[in-house]
Amino acid sequence: MDLTAAERDMLEGREGPARQRAMKGLVQLGRAYGAPRLVEIGYAHIHAGMALYLEDVELMEDLAAIDARMAVPASVNIANADTVNWKATGAPESLARLQRRAAGAHAKMGSDCTFTCTPYWAGHWPTWNTHMTSIESTVTIFCNSVLGAKSNRDGFFAVYAGITGRYPLFGYHLDAIRRGTMLFEVATPLAGGSDFSCLGFHVGNAVGDGVPVITGFARRPTLDELDALGAGIATSGGASMFIVPGVTPPYGDIAAAFHGAKPPLPARVDAAAIAAVYARYADGHDALDIVHLGCPHASFEEMKLYARLLDGRRVAAGLELWITASRNVRNAAAEAGIVAKLEAAGAKVISDTCPMSCHFARTVSPDPKLGVVPPALRAVVVDSAKQAKYVRDMIQCPVLLTGTEEAVETALAGRFVPRRRPS
Ligand code: F3S
Repeated sequence: MDLTAAERDMLEGREGPARQRAMKGLVQLGRAYGAPRLVEIGYAHIHAGMALYLEDVELMEDLAAIDARMAVPASVNIANADTVNWKATGAPESLARLQRRAAGAHAKMGSDCTFTCTPYWAGHWPTWNTHMTSIESTVTIFCNSVLGAKSNRDGFFAVYAGITGRYPLFGYHLDAIRRGTMLFEVATPLAGGSDFSCLGFHVGNAVGDGVPVITGFARRPTLDELDALGAGIATSGGASMFIVPGVTPPYGDIAAAFHGAKPPLPARVDAAAIAAVYARYADGHDALDIVHLGCPHASFEEMKLYARLLDGRRVAAGLELWITASRNVRNAAAEAGIVAKLEAAGAKVISDTCPMSCHFARTVSPDPKLGVVPPALRAVVVDSAKQAKYVRDMIQCPVLLTGTEEAVETALAGRFVPRRRPS
């Protein structure tokens, strides 16, 4: 792989041990994928250091201790505990304390410790053609497909890319890869983020690790709907990019999305396909414990929507309504009086984590010293196909997927309200 003089300096340790370690990792990654060289990146969305595993937090502290510093603007992915309001999720304080240690390491490294899966709502908005890196599939697909930035789905390498400001040139960093492989035509009305997440889940399942081109929307989707669409696609398959002609930069029409090649025949997405995703996550519902909104972490607009839907009413006794949003969005919503309205209705506004990412998962082995015990949940109601999949797979508890309005109605009524089909 060709390296510049500056990159060789990093590799040979002349820029310090942290950059050397990071550059070694990136060179290995690049060689494994046949990258001819590295590219300069403009942004990194990096690993949090997950408090459920002491060693994971120590790994971030070790990097900070050897003077690792972010070479580019960096945000931090979702974590295992709300570092301020951990009691709201029933987490032990030891978990929040450990998560705060990771936050301290990030502060030393110069990252914006957002602890969120939607850093774009917290102000991290990479523009068209910006090479970047991301540990979170939802961030990767949103930045590729809505903003026109260039990112793969990365793991810990995102930290190394942030430290060096470089990334190997392969995958979605290459224009040739950023072309449609399947064409979908939406042939049914969609109502809100939950329907878009189900559309994404259906499309992601069909397209595998290709690039779906999606047409037929009755109107231009909102940013929140595009966010939900991408999260759904990235959950059910390996896709890291979708193209909506006229929305995804720089694809103005279907021909451009297929780089001038003849487009394939469109796969129609009808009402039955969307309903099938809801039906897939419709476990038993005699007793509910939590209704969750905010997957991916809610935007300011979504916080306004939740406040309007709750409209001065109260969450039913015995049920919890969780709303997850980044701390940045939470703070903005608090200043606007929205958090007070949500809390007055009995909702819990939680940051830094989500049901799937907190201490609820039964498929992970936390550090025994933390005393983490996942609660025995009877059923969780969600409005996101992504959260539905992970509640069932990782928390291993019954899950019910419904529309956003219906999820709020569920929380108020104390009984499950299934999604109403849009007319
Ligand atoms: Fe974010 Fe958790 Fe959903 S990480 S995308 S809120 S499953």
